[in-house]
Amino acid sequence: MKVLGIETSCDETAVAIIDSDKTIHSNLVLSQIDIHRIYGGVVPEVAARAHAEHLDRLIKQSLEESDLELKDIDAFAATCGPGLIGGVMIGMVSAKALAYACDKPFLAINHLEGHALTPRLSNDVPFPYLLLLVSGGHTQILLVEGVGQYQMLGTTLDDAAGECFDKVAKSMGLPYPGGPELEKLASMCTDGETALKTYNLPHPLKGQDNCNFSFSGLKSAVIRHIDAIDDKDFTRENLSGLAYATQYVITDVLTDRVSHGLEVLKKAGGKDLVVAGGVAANKNIRASLEALAQENDIRFTAPPLKLCTDNAAMIAWAGLEKLGQGMVDNLSFKARPRWPLEELMNKNA
Ligand code: KG4
Ligand code: ZN
Repeated sequence: MKVLGIETSCDETAVAIIDSDKTIHSNLVLSQIDIHRIYGGVVPEVAARAHAEHLDRLIKQSLEESDLELKDIDAFAATCGPGLIGGVMIGMVSAKALAYACDKPFLAINHLEGHALTPRLSNDVPFPYLLLLVSGGHTQILLVEGVGQYQMLGTTLDDAAGECFDKVAKSMGLPYPGGPELEKLASMCTDGETALKTYNLPHPLKGQDNCNFSFSGLKSAVIRHIDAIDDKDFTRENLSGLAYATQYVITDVLTDRVSHGLEVLKKAGGKDLVVAGGVAANKNIRASLEALAQENDIRFTAPPLKLCTDNAAMIAWAGLEKLGQGMVDNLSFKARPRWPLEELMNKNA
């Protein structure tokens, strides 16, 4: 069984073709970062236009690369939410049109479900597992118990972790997206201990008896420090300590909240911790989570970066997982800018 997946919910136009035996025939991602960089963030209308401009060419290229024709595809899957609605509509309508024209099933995929099921494509991770999803738009801890069976253990009360990285980096004058830039700057800090003492930052919600996050207070505290720096001292060297302290706190808070989630995982009989989303590229965060897993005798998996950040392989794979459960969607399915994973849970209960 081969599924063609489409992802257009944010600033990546992506198309992939995946086989039920987990062969990735093609996995194309066209990033719009260069277009949005001049605005310092994603502009929804600009993103939607770029998706519309490139999607058909990517679908064609994906088939050519896979040495397949449309008639060889068994189903068409697209992200139908949550995300920027203009972009979501473009991917969803394209998948529906292909499904209708080829008389094959259409699969409406929740973008978060795509991230949540990716470790089964990349690493055969068995249910149940604990997932930390950390991206520019989301910061959540989920207990993944099966296809369509997602227990949300915690989410951010305000900003996502990636958003915190990006906004702090922007205030430091670093280019978009700021996460990798801030990581680079933090690695230039030569005296982490002094940096942590100099910048006494809050560790939001640390130690609380839940898996929730909050990053806006931390972001504001860092920005206050940035604003207090004299123009003449505004150098990369001087900012590296603050970048180090910011990354340290984000890592510490993520690890603390996941450690709480591990208790739930253990009670459910699970043995796997998985991290996904763009922020999972951060080496400091990965290392800290890996150490936590080791302490708890839990396996740690981080899918390869190309499958961690937004891509269409995860959408095609979620489609295959749904097909395997006999789930297909109607062509009247409506795109959803907001689509919490718990709602899938209710539908499948
Ligand atoms: O999953 P993703 O590619 O897109 C969505 O937001 O869905 O995640 C992008 C986010 C951005 O906020 C970016 O700054 C952050 O991931 N990011 C990082 C790193 N690489 C990407 N944050 C911290 N450290 C990194 N190395
Ligand atoms: Zn994503």
